[in-house]
Amino acid sequence: MGDRRKYIVGNWKMNGVADTIDEATAIARHATDAPGVDVALCPPATLVERMARRVPTLAVGGQDCHECESGAYTGSISVAMLVDAGARLVIVGHSERREGLGESDSLVRAKAERALAGGLSVIVCVGESKRIRDAGDAERHVTAQVAASLPEDFDPARLAIAYEPIWAIGTGDVAKVSDVAAMHAAIRDMLRDRAGAEAASVRILYGGSVTGDNAAELLAVADVDGALVGGASLTAAKFVPIVEAAAAIE
Ligand code: PGA
Repeated sequence: MGDRRKYIVGNWKMNGVADTIDEATAIARHATDAPGVDVALCPPATLVERMARRVPTLAVGGQDCHECESGAYTGSISVAMLVDAGARLVIVGHSERREGLGESDSLVRAKAERALAGGLSVIVCVGESKRIRDAGDAERHVTAQVAASLPEDFDPARLAIAYEPIWAIGTGDVAKVSDVAAMHAAIRDMLRDRAGAEAASVRILYGGSVTGDNAAELLAVADVDGALVGGASLTAAKFVPIVEAAAAIE
């Protein structure tokens, strides 16, 4: 099975200004009461440094990084900048970037490689569209995405995969538990083929309309090692119940 602690990660997307850090402070207070659960928040880049400084007990991460070390890439943020700001992790390949900005598997993989080389933990996101799900092609599509988006070599303790069906993100439309179970098992099998026994240490998170109401059921599924949470991570009132649901599982 591997010894995988539950991992609950909030993705604030393009939300949050200085005052919002109070929510992170409240989240951190509860997170430290939840032994056995790793909690992280990924605020917008402008808040990474302030959040990391104000809430040192919380792992703070970026929502994206550039694949190059530095250079003439207006508007982009490098791994070294995130590390310098106090980040410990970064999300790469979120569907809002794959779909909206045309990021390919190979670009996502380059970003993941750069992040690991720079000392960050990385969460690689994958997921199918509604059209692919309805065509019965979701498992093939997602495992191919995983295969093409993962770095060649990785430290399994610093790599997580987030399975996020695109149609479930921000819609309130959660994937069926049986479909989540099947997809996570397929990803685990694929990882086992690729990395052997090491695959057991890679955490596979589910994302897509996770809330305090559905977290317990999702997190109880074998191979669901945590959650990547968007909307419900913006306030402590909504996020803490998800952390508590993870802490209650054992
Ligand atoms: P959601 O977003 O929880 O608002 O559906 C999840 C994500 O995009 O990571």
